[in-house]
Amino acid sequence: MSFSGKRVVVTGAGRGMGRSHAEAFAARGATVGVVDIDSALVDEAVGFIGQTGGAAHGVACDVADAAAITETIAGLEASMGGIDILVNNAGIDEMRTIEEVDEASFDRMFGVHVKGTFFATRAAVPGMKARGSGKIVVTASTAGMTGIAGDSHYSGAKAALLGLTKAWAKEFAPFGIHVNAVAPGATMTEMVMTKLPTREQSMARVQERLDAGAVPLGRYAEPSEITAVVLFLASEEASFITGQVISPNGGEMIVGI
Ligand SMILES: NC(=O)c1ccc[n+]([C@@H]2O[C@H](COP(=O)([O-])OP(=O)(O)OC[C@H]3O[C@@H](n4cnc5c(N)ncnc54)[C@H](O)[C@@H]3O)[C@@H](O)[C@H]2O)c1
Repeated sequence: MSFSGKRVVVTGAGRGMGRSHAEAFAARGATVGVVDIDSALVDEAVGFIGQTGGAAHGVACDVADAAAITETIAGLEASMGGIDILVNNAGIDEMRTIEEVDEASFDRMFGVHVKGTFFATRAAVPGMKARGSGKIVVTASTAGMTGIAGDSHYSGAKAALLGLTKAWAKEFAPFGIHVNAVAPGATMTEMVMTKLPTREQSMARVQERLDAGAVPLGRYAEPSEITAVVLFLASEEASFITGQVISPNGGEMIVGI
C-alpha cells in the first residue's frame, strides 16, 4: 500500500499505536505530522522517521486544548502543503469507579478524546473540502461498544466518538471525505501496562484476562495489527467505506454493531 505524496497527521504519535501508525505511513512514502503532548516523544519520533528515510514534521500539543490543536493543524497544513489524512489517536485511560471520577478527571477524559478529536477534525476539514477529498480515522475502542466496569468515563468518551464518526461520515460525504473508526481491543502499549496504579498490577490484570479466555485469539494485539486497519481505512482501497467501525479485537467482541 503506497501513501506516496500523501500528507498525514497522527495525534498521539509519540508512542504506542500512534507511533506505529506514523512510522508505517512514513515508510510507505507519506509526509507525516507527528502531534503529541510530550515534546520529548515528538522529537524522538520525528528523529526516528528521519533516520529511516521518512519525512516528518513534529508539533507538541495538547489535543484537549481547542485553540492549540486548531493552531497545530493550521501550522501543519501550511508546512506540509495540506492534510490528506487525519488519524485522531491521542488518548488516555485510567481505571476508576464512578466515585473516584471527579469533575477534573471527567473533563480531562472527555477533553482528550472527544474535544480533541472534534477540534482536530474541525480544523482539518476545510482544507479537505476545498480539495474534494480526505480520509479521517477516529480511534474508538471496544470499551465504547461493550462498556468496561470501573472505566465508565473512558467507555463513555469512546462511545461518543462512534456518534461523531457516523455523523461526520454523512456530513462530509458530499465533499469526498471518508470518516471511519478503528475500535481496537486490548493492545500491548504503555496504556495497558499503566492502567492500574502499578505495572505489576496492570500486567497481572492482563494475565488474569488471558487466563479467563477473554480474548479468543489468546493474546493482546501488537500496535502494528491496529496500524494495518488504519492504513486500510486511510487508503484508496477503502473507496466505498465510510461511517464504519472496524474492530481488530482478537474475537473478544463478536456482536452486531
Ligand atoms: N491499548 C489499548 O488496549 C487500547 C484499546 C482500545 C483503544 N485504545 C486507544 O488507542 C489510542 C492509542 O492508545 P495507546 O494504547 O497507543 O496509548 P499510549 O498511552 O501508548 O499512547 C498514547 C499517546 O497519546 C499521547 N497523548 C495523551 N494525551 C494527549 C493529549 N492530550 N494531546 C496529545 N497527545 C496526547 C501520549 O503522550 C502518548 O504518546 C488511544 O486513543 C486509546 O484510547 C487503546
